[in-house]
Amino acid sequence: MGQADNVARACVIGDPISHSRSPLIHGHWLERLGITGVYDRRRVATGEVEAFLQEVRAGNLRGGNVTVPHKETVARHVDVLTETAQRLGAVNTVWEDNGKVWGDNTDVTGFLANLDERSPGWDCKPEKAIVLGAGGAARAIIYGLLTRGFHEIDIVNRSPSRARQLAEDLQPQGARRLVPVDWAERSGALNGATILVNTTSLGMTGQPALDLSLEALPIQAVVHDIVYAPLETDLLRTARQRGNPVVDGLGMLLHQAAPGFARWFGQKPQVTDELRQLVIDDMNRSAA
Ligand SMILES: NC(=O)c1ccc[n+]([C@@H]2O[C@H](COP(=O)([O-])OP(=O)(O)OC[C@H]3O[C@@H](n4cnc5c(N)ncnc54)[C@H](OP(=O)(O)O)[C@@H]3O)[C@@H](O)[C@H]2O)c1
Repeated sequence: MGQADNVARACVIGDPISHSRSPLIHGHWLERLGITGVYDRRRVATGEVEAFLQEVRAGNLRGGNVTVPHKETVARHVDVLTETAQRLGAVNTVWEDNGKVWGDNTDVTGFLANLDERSPGWDCKPEKAIVLGAGGAARAIIYGLLTRGFHEIDIVNRSPSRARQLAEDLQPQGARRLVPVDWAERSGALNGATILVNTTSLGMTGQPALDLSLEALPIQAVVHDIVYAPLETDLLRTARQRGNPVVDGLGMLLHQAAPGFARWFGQKPQVTDELRQLVIDDMNRSAA
């Protein structure tokens, strides 16, 4: 049954979910664009995921975002996957079209749009990228780097089997290579890199520090940390102080939200400095 008031509704699902900043981001866009819509958060257990998708299929909800631990489950239960979501086996955005539920993974476009905005030309020499980590975010980021033509992507992970599996799953055709690298080799692996991306949780507030020497990293290499709390991680500070261009992870969070909003509410939202500041203020309040 559809909503009687005909208000466009969407939400983010996950478990836990109270920490999610998606309602803040989408609420800001709804207000700025003058749209009468609702975006809230729902704690959904694994057994309730199919009921959520049925609500989208039936038109009760226009769709929503999906976060930990449901991204893979949702990928298995939507009616249609975009090519990106199919390659990644994970969905973070769903919407309804013609009675079918679609699933996409917008972490890829979020990652790319953030770098394009904050470090234009970052991919003009797509030679060697280093990705620290081999979890869900790394998968989306490596896929994104492949779409920009990187010749070699080294995947450096604490658990070697996870790096090997990721390399196997996304290995491109032809001469381009995904190379699993031992965690102990991480500092030396930076030699010759044109971009370094941290996708581990190391350096995040409440998590252990990332122990990495940047000595071998070329000074022109872009350093990107997808951890955004704190906004300037130790990795970014060290890289900035030695002269590398740096990009923080907040823009990825903001840009990954935009495609879903456009699907549910019919207007393309902008990632602005005002929105960025709103989220930074919220993070500062949470940290206080
Ligand atoms: N900016 C954004 O929009 C955005 C989007 C998504 C995620 N993130 C952030 O990215 C981080 C990773 O997210 P995810 O979804 O990929 O998580 P995940 O799937 O759980 O992966 C976590 C990664 O961190 C590594 N790791 C954790 N603790 C470690 C330690 N003590 N030493 C070495 N490596 C360690 C893991 O290595 P093992 O495989 O060895 O366990 C794995 O590679 C989180 O901090 C998340 O908040 C940011």
